[in-house]
Amino acid sequence: MASKQMLHMNHGQGETSYARNSSIQSTEQNRMKHLIEDAIVDLCSTLLPGKMLIADLGCSSGPNALALVSIAVKAIHSHCLEFQQPTPEVCVLLNDLPGNDFNTVVKSLVTLQRSNAPVVVTGIAPGSFYGRLFTSGSLHLVCSSNSLHWLSKAPENLTRNRIPAYDVDEHARRERLPVVLDAYAQQFKKEFRLFLELRAKELVPGGQMVVSLGGRHSNDIASKSIRPCEALYEILHVMDSEVHSFTSLA
Ligand SMILES: C[S@@+](CC[C@H](N)C(=O)[O-])C[C@H]1O[C@@H](n2cnc3c(N)ncnc32)[C@H](O)[C@@H]1O
Repeated sequence: MASKQMLHMNHGQGETSYARNSSIQSTEQNRMKHLIEDAIVDLCSTLLPGKMLIADLGCSSGPNALALVSIAVKAIHSHCLEFQQPTPEVCVLLNDLPGNDFNTVVKSLVTLQRSNAPVVVTGIAPGSFYGRLFTSGSLHLVCSSNSLHWLSKAPENLTRNRIPAYDVDEHARRERLPVVLDAYAQQFKKEFRLFLELRAKELVPGGQMVVSLGGRHSNDIASKSIRPCEALYEILHVMDSEVHSFTSLA
């Protein structure tokens, strides 16, 4: 869950920073490259825009923050060069929750501005992608990688009944599994739908979205493929209870 105030990936460039621990996510971004290039070709050949607004939602920090928008900017320039079209002025906006390490991101955004001769202006759009971020009918391309499976909150029917996502008591966990799975599936559906409705307002007619998010192949959470995650769930559960006892003490 992404609490608007608290959660963020580890800041900076240190050993435990997201910048130095995001190679799996980077692989996922590489798989999106041709989809972004196709979207750009489509946009440039059908809309022939004089200006283009491109946004990455849930950009985080480190090299991944700029990866998708850099692919898009390069694709615009190659397409326009190949077909001798005038290159549109490009505005690149990066979004994440306010706690994100935008200081580091801003420094690399300047590199993007300098490394592209035609006009590329850049900016930050802080806030939740479960709310409005851009003006109506302004966006040409929305990209997002490894972020849209973050929900804004735990399902209310679980929090109301104090049911954790992962109960360390195996018996309780197995018994409540269908309820927990269903609650998270419903929450995801509700929030993903909201995300799509919001972006539909912000995109220009004919605008494009290229997104990737985590998921699983089957409902069987006991299947071998996810067992390595169990240790992680346990750690998160312990951290979660520590945060709660700290909050009640404070
Ligand atoms: C795993 S990181 C992915 C970062 C980058 N896109 C990548 O592929 O490496 C997920 C990012 O989504 C951001 N995020 C989660 N929920 C969000 C929300 N509601 N609005 C904006 N950003 C959000 C988190 O703060 C985090 O930086």
